[in-house]
Amino acid sequence: MEAALAARFPNLRLITHPLVQHKLTLMRRKDLSTSSFRRLLNELSMLMAYEVTRDVGTQLVSIETPLETMLAPMIDGKKLVFLSILRAGTGILDGMLSVVPGARVGHIGLYRDPKTLTAVEYYFKMPHQLEERDVVILDPMLATGNSAVAAIERTRELGPKSMKFVCLLTCPEGLEALNREHPDVPVYTAAVDRELDSHGYILPGLGDAGDRIFGTK
Ligand code: URA
Repeated sequence: MEAALAARFPNLRLITHPLVQHKLTLMRRKDLSTSSFRRLLNELSMLMAYEVTRDVGTQLVSIETPLETMLAPMIDGKKLVFLSILRAGTGILDGMLSVVPGARVGHIGLYRDPKTLTAVEYYFKMPHQLEERDVVILDPMLATGNSAVAAIERTRELGPKSMKFVCLLTCPEGLEALNREHPDVPVYTAAVDRELDSHGYILPGLGDAGDRIFGTK
């Protein structure tokens, strides 16, 4: 199963860790409370931050322990940028920031036109010196891929050093869209679900991530 997905989607980075899978299953349940959904999303985001930062560069710096001087590794280069796709990206952002507290944060506001399902931008604010920074784009659900493609296109205009996309779950349609439009951007996710329905929801999915995070339904 995993090998077949990897062959079909070269951009896919599936996070199969049992803790991640367990928490995602809890989150899918429709009777989960808003506070539990939020807490689990926070925990899952921390675990995903661990995976998405696995290849960041380190350099040896000289430090003093209570006993002697040593060379020890620290993260190198300009601070990472987390770009949150409003509004549901905020749910992942909090967990990521608790693991990488020095990261810079960008926001992009995109809403889905309910008729065409295309992404319409209403807000964009990014940190400076993007050409020296790695950008990790956050949205819990990669569904049609329209918002992700738009966020990546907009970010690319600023010439970042690299881009990665992180979501909780996705589907073949979303992965195909990203692979087609931005094959250089890896997608980190905990699951690839079956399909999209006619309203652009992922099946079986977990429903509307924004509504479940903010309790708006
Ligand atoms: N956005 C969501 O919140 N849920 C989906 O299933 C698809 C897009």
